[in-house]
Amino acid sequence: MGGLTEVMDRVLAAQKLTIAACGTSWHSGLVGEYLFEQLAKMPVEVEYASEFRYRDPLIGKEDVLLAISQSGETADTLAAMREAREKGALILGVCNVVGSTIARETDAGVFTHAGPEIGVASTKAFTAQVVVLTMMALAVAQRKGTVSEERFRQIVEELWRLPEKIQSILDQNDHIKAISERFTYAPNFLYLGRSINFPVALEGALKLKEISYIHAEGYPAAEMKHGPIALIDQLMPVVVIAATDHTNEKMISNIEEVRARKGRVIAIASEGNEEVKRLAEFVIEIPETDDVLTPLLSVIPLQLMSYHI
Ligand code: M6R
Repeated sequence: MGGLTEVMDRVLAAQKLTIAACGTSWHSGLVGEYLFEQLAKMPVEVEYASEFRYRDPLIGKEDVLLAISQSGETADTLAAMREAREKGALILGVCNVVGSTIARETDAGVFTHAGPEIGVASTKAFTAQVVVLTMMALAVAQRKGTVSEERFRQIVEELWRLPEKIQSILDQNDHIKAISERFTYAPNFLYLGRSINFPVALEGALKLKEISYIHAEGYPAAEMKHGPIALIDQLMPVVVIAATDHTNEKMISNIEEVRARKGRVIAIASEGNEEVKRLAEFVIEIPETDDVLTPLLSVIPLQLMSYHI
C-alpha cells in the first residue's frame, strides 16, 4: 500500500474523509474520527461498510474513503470501497494482511503488520489500527500545519512510551482476573465512555459479547440518562472509562448517578484520578498518557476482562 506520500496532495485537498469498516475495525475508525478531526482538522464521517452502499452515498472525486480491515477480505468493506471508487473517490486502506483483496484494491495506505490473527476476537488488530490512524492523522496534520512541531513531537514521543505502559497494565493481570471473577454471574454489562473513549466503550462491549456470550452495551456516558439508566440496579456492572482529563468531571457525575441506583462501578481510571478511584467499587488503573492516545491503554483492561470472564 506504500504509505500516504504519493497521494498526500489529494488527501490535503479532500473535502472530507469517509472511513468505512465493520466491527472492531469500525470502532478503530471512530477513534480515527477524533484523531483526524482534532489533529488534522479534517471533516470525517465513519460509516458501517455494510450500510454505505445502500445509501447512495454522497462521495465524489474530491473525497477520500479510508477502508479499515484486519483481514482485508471483509465483503462489506470491499463493497464500500468499490462503490466509492465508482464515484471517483481516492481509496485508502489500513489493513493487516499483505496481498489481501482490500490491500490490492486501495490506491494507497498503510499495513498494520500486527502479525497473523490467532483468535477471532480482534485485540492487537485494534491497537495496531489505532496507532496507524494516529500516525496518519499526524502526517496529514504536519503537512497542513494544524499541529505545532512541539505538539507533533510530544505525541510521537508518547507513542514510543506506550509499549512500556501497556506492559504495566498487563502486569495487573491477576488484579483484573480477580475483578472479572466477581462478575461472571452478570447477564448484562454496560460500558460508558466519553469523547475518544466512547468507541472504546463500544469495543469493550463487543469483546464481552463475542467471547463471553454476555449481553453488553456500549454508550456515550451522557446518553445513559436518556434510557439505559432504567436498567441499572445492584446486579448491573457498569464499566466506566475515566481516562481523559477534559471529560473527567462529567464522568464523575455519571459514576455518582450509577451509584445512586446501586449499580456496580468498575472504573478504568488514569493513575492519579483520585476522585474516580474513591467513588468506584473496583478500579483498574492505567498510566497517564496524552489524551489522544488514551484508547490504546484503556482498551487493554477491557480485553483482559472479557478474556477472564
Ligand atoms: O477483518 P476485518 O477487520 O474487516 O473484520 C471486521 C470485523 O468482522 C471484525 O473486526 C470483528 O468485529 C472482530 N473479529 C471482533 O473482535
